[in-house]
Amino acid sequence: MATIQGEIPFPVVDPERIPTQRYFDEDFYEAELEHLWPHVWQMACRLEQIPDVGDWVEYANAGASIIIVRTNDGVKAFHNACRHRGVPFAGGATVDSTHSIAHGNCAKSGFVCPFHGWRWNMDGENTFVYGKHLFSERQLDADEINLRPCRVETWGGCAFINLDDNAPSFRDTYGPVADRLEAHGVGNIRSEWWFGTVLPANWKTAMEAFMEGYHVKSTHPQLAEVLPSTIEASYEYEQAESFGATSLADIIASSKSGDAREMIRQHLGLMELNSVGMAGMHHAKEVEIARELAEADLPDDPAQALPMWYGMVGDEITRRMRERGENVPDVNAVAMSDPVSAVEFCFPHYFMLPVFTSMSSYRIRPLGPEHCLFELWSLTHVPEGEEHEVPMEPTMLAFDSAAFPAIPRQDYSNIPIQQKGMHSKGFEFMRLSKYVEGLVSNYHRIIDGHLKGVDQGKLAKATNVLGGGFDGPIKEFDF
Ligand code: FES
Ligand SMILES: [Fe+2]
Repeated sequence: MATIQGEIPFPVVDPERIPTQRYFDEDFYEAELEHLWPHVWQMACRLEQIPDVGDWVEYANAGASIIIVRTNDGVKAFHNACRHRGVPFAGGATVDSTHSIAHGNCAKSGFVCPFHGWRWNMDGENTFVYGKHLFSERQLDADEINLRPCRVETWGGCAFINLDDNAPSFRDTYGPVADRLEAHGVGNIRSEWWFGTVLPANWKTAMEAFMEGYHVKSTHPQLAEVLPSTIEASYEYEQAESFGATSLADIIASSKSGDAREMIRQHLGLMELNSVGMAGMHHAKEVEIARELAEADLPDDPAQALPMWYGMVGDEITRRMRERGENVPDVNAVAMSDPVSAVEFCFPHYFMLPVFTSMSSYRIRPLGPEHCLFELWSLTHVPEGEEHEVPMEPTMLAFDSAAFPAIPRQDYSNIPIQQKGMHSKGFEFMRLSKYVEGLVSNYHRIIDGHLKGVDQGKLAKATNVLGGGFDGPIKEFDF
């Protein structure tokens, strides 16, 4: 059913209350397909999936299929529809059905449409039409039969596409978020592993499980337990005076009393848990360095010892990774110049969690009103010139598979049941905390901005302020 831009099926009227129908209603889903997805920047592939000239990969989402190709003139993207009668000329049957990712190399073969054999080179120029004389001349103008280009920008080791030629640039859309991640070396990291799962939940239900730290104490009790000394600042919301203090600086600053050695042991324990649960967030090679330094000579006063230990860990990680030939930023310098509180979001469906030099990243795509494809990557630096095995497709697992790291598995355990709960007749809206669940509200109101057809410059300004970590407050937007 076609939806009309401007008529939002279930708008957010009260920023602290999000109507539940937005998570399952067919019309709302349709409105997103028509008025949100075709106008936003979408992470389409990691660049290491297309290392050589001619390498291509299909990105399919929300009814669109785009082919991303590495050419002699950089990365290009094309709408995956033959200019003759619309058949996808590459891939075309993947994401919705098998969740696999079509890829190949077209340097020699070009693209060949399977239906009547029209051909194109990697730059999208038509090179062959079978029986040209059978067509009116005007049907065969180059503009008519070359592949339709799609906007693409490369950033952060990824290709991002946008179906809207008038949307603001990637840089205008993410501004400070992009700056912070660049300072943390996002452009140089590579994928180490890549998992995927289908969750029986709306894509927003899944995204929102990562937008606050308020769930940590109940959902990931092992994280809160390992760090009792800093619970006050990081995961205890009962008494907090400043909300959602999850930056490393805040956690360190809160650790003023107790035994220095014990405190360091707890911080190390948290890194170890994160390393098992989230891999790239605290990479094993970084944790190993922190473990070695846990025995270093340090003052007895934890207020001095803990920052000193973190300083040593940051310095040593920087030094040793550079020694291995990794192009990493100076961990301590960047923590001061461009602090990141655990997570940064690229609206609408991609986010990254950097701590030292490695990161976890997540991408979520809708597969219908109540299903989504959820992917996670562990990203790290690789020494210059070192062979590195690149995962070309996600390893697909059931969402409750024991093969998933513990932390995402704990998150996945809530998401499907929450989706069910939203259908309860006794539940009408998400009741948000205005201090720590603001990101959820901000996201929904930017979605409504798209559905209403708000000026895209204004929407870009709003996505600029989405960053800054978990637990943001509800923000005011001028639309
Ligand atoms: S549809 Fe592609 S050649 Fe006919
Ligand atoms: Fe979580």
